[in-house]
Amino acid sequence: MVSTSDRGSWGSRAGFVLAAAGSAVGLGNLWSFPSQVGQGGGAVFVVVYLACVLLICLPIMLAELAVGRAAQLDPVASIRVLSPNSRWWLVGLLGVLAGAGILSFYSVIAGWSLAYIWFAGTGSVTGDADAIGAFFTRFTANGPVNVGLTFVILGLTATVLIGGVRSGIERVTKLMMPALISLLLILAIRAVSLPGAVAGLSYYLKPDFSRLFDPTVINAALGQAFFSLSLGMGAMLTYGSYLDRKESLITAAGWVVLLDTGMALLAGFIIFPSGFSIPGFDPSESGPGLIFVVLPRLFAELPSGHLFGGAFFMLLTLAAVTSTISLLEVPVAYVIDTHRWSRPRAVLLVATVVFLLAIPSALGNGAVNFLSKLPMVGMSFLDLMATLWNNFALPLGGFLIAIFVGRAWGVKHALAEIERQDTWLTGRALWSFLIRWVCPVAIAMIIVYTVMSM
Ligand code: TRP
Repeated sequence: MVSTSDRGSWGSRAGFVLAAAGSAVGLGNLWSFPSQVGQGGGAVFVVVYLACVLLICLPIMLAELAVGRAAQLDPVASIRVLSPNSRWWLVGLLGVLAGAGILSFYSVIAGWSLAYIWFAGTGSVTGDADAIGAFFTRFTANGPVNVGLTFVILGLTATVLIGGVRSGIERVTKLMMPALISLLLILAIRAVSLPGAVAGLSYYLKPDFSRLFDPTVINAALGQAFFSLSLGMGAMLTYGSYLDRKESLITAAGWVVLLDTGMALLAGFIIFPSGFSIPGFDPSESGPGLIFVVLPRLFAELPSGHLFGGAFFMLLTLAAVTSTISLLEVPVAYVIDTHRWSRPRAVLLVATVVFLLAIPSALGNGAVNFLSKLPMVGMSFLDLMATLWNNFALPLGGFLIAIFVGRAWGVKHALAEIERQDTWLTGRALWSFLIRWVCPVAIAMIIVYTVMSM
């Protein structure tokens, strides 16, 4: 087994919070959240999403951090140490696979963002909404370019990871997060003052409660919450394993959830007011192209808009890369801890496997017809990957982690780890109840309900 010092550790509390928030904040907040809100019917999705974050995801985040820090190992080995002679380690293995699966389609979209630094920065996406939409369709249908961009993203991620935990992950995130928050605030202020912004705000903020119990809305909101918070596959567990025993897990989890949710909500304040200022805009029809189509229109409204555009996609790409780092880190930590490989060798192996898996997602957006609309499921390969991993694998992983912590390892041990620094009288009973009952029951119901209504 590799000793703790060889595995690396965070430089400071702020470093951990930023790195974990860097993992959480990414395409999930800026690309996926607004388009899910659009497909989920607007404000009602936001309500269900926030309920999932508070009642299900926050307790699971604490559970993951506690397991990781108690064992100080990758997900598989951590669970093995805490519950020897059981099969619970398979939950860790599911996470390792989910990390590779999610990364395979995530890096394709991060590649789009990378290309848009150039497109938006040089002002090459112009014209009316139709022209901007057609530009996006043509671009994503270009197979070789998309495979190349995916390769660049995975290469960048691998390079940072070879640098190791502290000098790589922490340093990048520390610079990126404050810049991203500032730029989003500027864009949100401009967007809400556009003509037509009021319609966008009311779509985003006034819930249509008739869809509150719509299974597709609930399943999508839960999947989105897990995806956005990097939960359900051991990423937070792995980051927790690098966290010093002096730090408060409650404060760390609180900050990560606050930053991540704040950024997602902020993205909505940019996208919907700008979208609704475009004549004929229909958020439910935009799908994955939403930000790539709506934002170039917003930049056109700003003085020196191409500078804002270039800066935005630059920060989005960085935010995506701090997330790809955490996705790749889970399988890499597993290979290092189990097979005792050197870090560079583990990184190269895993990144190559993920790249091969990413190729169909990169080609499935118009380049290859078969992959763009798979028979039977009627969606693109990329959408299929996103649905399978986000809406099913992550909630399932979260469900199993809740049961593991609540019942196998036990809330007593978990609380001992959580309460190393704090005495948490107000929260412990509530957290125990949520992790033992609310999380598993709610997730199981949502999964069963979704499968039955398919
Ligand atoms: N949370 C990231 C985002 O919102 C994506 C991500 C990074 C992720 N690591 C993860 C999702 C682990 C699930 C699990 O963009």
